[in-house]
Amino acid sequence: MTKQLSIAFVASEATPFAKTGGLADVAGSLPPALAKLGHKVSLFIPLYKEVDRARHKIPDRGHKLQVQVSARVIDAHYKKIKWRGVNVYFIESDGHFHRHGLYGLTDGAHPDNSERFSLFCMATLLALKKEQITLDVIHVNDWQSALVPVYLSQLFSSDKTLGKVATVLTVHNIGYQGIFNPLEWHLLGLDFSLFNMHNLEFYGNINFLKGGLIHTNIITTVSSTYAKEIQTKDGGYGLDSVLRNRSKDVFGVVNGIDTDQWNPKIDETIPQNFEIANMDGKKKCKESLLNEFGFPKGENPLIVMITRLAEQKGVDIGLVAIDQAISKGINFALLGSGSTQYEELAKSLKYKYPDNVFIHIGFDEALAHRMIAGADMFFMPSRYEPCGLTQMYSLAYGTVPIVRATGGLNDTVSEYSSDTKTGVGFKFSKYSTEAAFKKIEEAVTLYRNCPNIWNKMVINGMKEDNSWASSAKEYLKLYKVAIKHKQGISIK
Ligand code: ADP
Ligand code: GLC
Repeated sequence: MTKQLSIAFVASEATPFAKTGGLADVAGSLPPALAKLGHKVSLFIPLYKEVDRARHKIPDRGHKLQVQVSARVIDAHYKKIKWRGVNVYFIESDGHFHRHGLYGLTDGAHPDNSERFSLFCMATLLALKKEQITLDVIHVNDWQSALVPVYLSQLFSSDKTLGKVATVLTVHNIGYQGIFNPLEWHLLGLDFSLFNMHNLEFYGNINFLKGGLIHTNIITTVSSTYAKEIQTKDGGYGLDSVLRNRSKDVFGVVNGIDTDQWNPKIDETIPQNFEIANMDGKKKCKESLLNEFGFPKGENPLIVMITRLAEQKGVDIGLVAIDQAISKGINFALLGSGSTQYEELAKSLKYKYPDNVFIHIGFDEALAHRMIAGADMFFMPSRYEPCGLTQMYSLAYGTVPIVRATGGLNDTVSEYSSDTKTGVGFKFSKYSTEAAFKKIEEAVTLYRNCPNIWNKMVINGMKEDNSWASSAKEYLKLYKVAIKHKQGISIK
């Protein structure tokens, strides 16, 4: 039996409390997976307006915290619940978090995000102190919690308990770094001497993620391929040299999926459950989806996308490739929200093919489940993809992924080989409409002409184990590496 660790997990979103993307899925499933392995886990997230207080039985009264922000003292609170073996702490400060949008609205980021998330980091540390939790590791995620390691090294180094805690920073997406105007420095509570290129300064601005990358004990990211990509000029979004300087402390751990939430055998949001031994439910899910979207019944494959409509996701090449593929006889549905430009592009496809295209602009968790269950193929033409979860959900639901071979998509989707009868999907490398279209065409041809091979591929995918079982253990190993790093023991 390995030693029980005490771990605090800090994230700006976590399912089922608040979600904009895959970070929430990870923060809502890795902490319970660690708790299930016998470790003591606490989770810290902001108490946003979106969090359903009644559903999660969040107490009305919280514990008071006073957080210094520049010349003001903010009266914040934390509120605690027990959930799936984890102590969840919600950081409450209505002036900062009780509004629409976790990070912003469609027309842009909230203007006070530097203050909101520096306060979140500081309040988390103050709550840990107040609760007198003895910790081994604090695991922070992305720029919104990246100041935690900076605060620990700068302001808590002589604190009896927090001074000894090791830190792990996971980069879920290096395209988002928390970059702010230097005039906002006074809000952070850090000495101005840290505004230099070896710390938080980045081309004249403040960069939260950079600060975290420099001050954390170890760095992880969400797939092995992405761990390499972020250390290159093309993939590093300006932070590649910072990461190369720390390359011996950079590790890739692929995300797992929550098999309590994404499991066709027990999923309550889909029309009929199914499993490898009985696939009738999969047919029923497709039928019902064709009906819901007003598509004609028939043999045409149904291809879907569920995505944030952001540059990262390859919507520009993807939708042009789909436009070309429609003449080959497919139905296509997209669920997504994000930039207006891509929303318009998606809608234009619907105007062009009213009978074979369905577009839903918005965020709809239950529809996402129904689409993944009912589709034949899941399309993910990402420009870059740190890990990606929807391709793994698709595999579990017998929906064949067609992906661009980048980041975690490359690591989690193996191409089908007719020689060895192994593989679970289709991959293309070049970021181009032609390459995407050719792969779709190949998939559609196989689907139509070789149903036996297709079914074998479906079953291969459903058999893959993408649960947290092995990745949670990887994290535990890395927590121990971080603890040794903190103690100044060099790691080979
Ligand atoms: P990212 O975090 O970059 O958006 P991931 O594939 O890791 O990409 O995770 C996306 C998560 O968000 C998945 O759980 C996916 O189902 C969900 N999702 C994305 N867009 C929507 C939407 N419009 N409605 C419902 N769920 C969505
Ligand atoms: C990010 C990435 C996505 C990853 C998710 C969870 O939002 O874009 O690829 O799966 O974080 O790690």
